[in-house]
Amino acid sequence: LNQIEQKRAAAVRAAAEVENDMVVGLGSGTTAAFAIAALRDRMADGLRIVGIATSEKTAALARAYGIPLTDFSDHRTIHITIDGADAVFRHDLTLIKGLGGALLREKIVAKASDRMIVVVDESKMADSLGAYATLPVEILPFGWQVTCDRLKAMGCRPRLRMAAALPFTTDNGNYIADCSMNQSAAPAALEAKLAAIPGVVESGLFVGLASMVLVGHQTGVEVIER
Ligand code: 5RP
Repeated sequence: LNQIEQKRAAAVRAAAEVENDMVVGLGSGTTAAFAIAALRDRMADGLRIVGIATSEKTAALARAYGIPLTDFSDHRTIHITIDGADAVFRHDLTLIKGLGGALLREKIVAKASDRMIVVVDESKMADSLGAYATLPVEILPFGWQVTCDRLKAMGCRPRLRMAAALPFTTDNGNYIADCSMNQSAAPAALEAKLAAIPGVVESGLFVGLASMVLVGHQTGVEVIER
């Protein structure tokens, strides 16, 4: 399988975990989009679900596919979330997310889920945080300069994500600081340290959230369970 086929194979395998009447968290990014397409195909065969989208782009895709959407005012618990990742650490299933800019809603949805199934191609598998260069961090536009100073002071090298000449803006109206890491802190400690900085809204570190990772390889799909 090539990379695209690896993504699709992992996504189709994840969609097979979904059962009738489930509330499904719909992730963001190209791999999650394959899962959303696979859910649409299963709905054509009779599957009944409602989705909670992790981004405006995913919401638009779900609507285009005829997948009914709901939100937390109607459903506090999500049965399964299927989402991609930018890196997965094999030994403890910590994730790095946020290259697509949807990390905040993705984390809210993942934390509200009974199970988070992560779908990736094999290029996303990493050994440790040290092996992964960039951690996206969502920050408030107000005072972003001082927030970046604080990120620097804790050993990150933040770069404000740009979209053409302007700062990239998330669905929540915030900015993203892409932080190069020059430290190999334990992920949970790093997540807590980042969260303690005023102006940091959320980091792309997902610790202890993935219950299953489906990795597309050239030869097929590997299933890793927590
Ligand atoms: C968006 C994300 C995505 O899940 C991540 O970027 C993976 O995307 P893709 O499947 O396109 O590689 O975290 O915020």
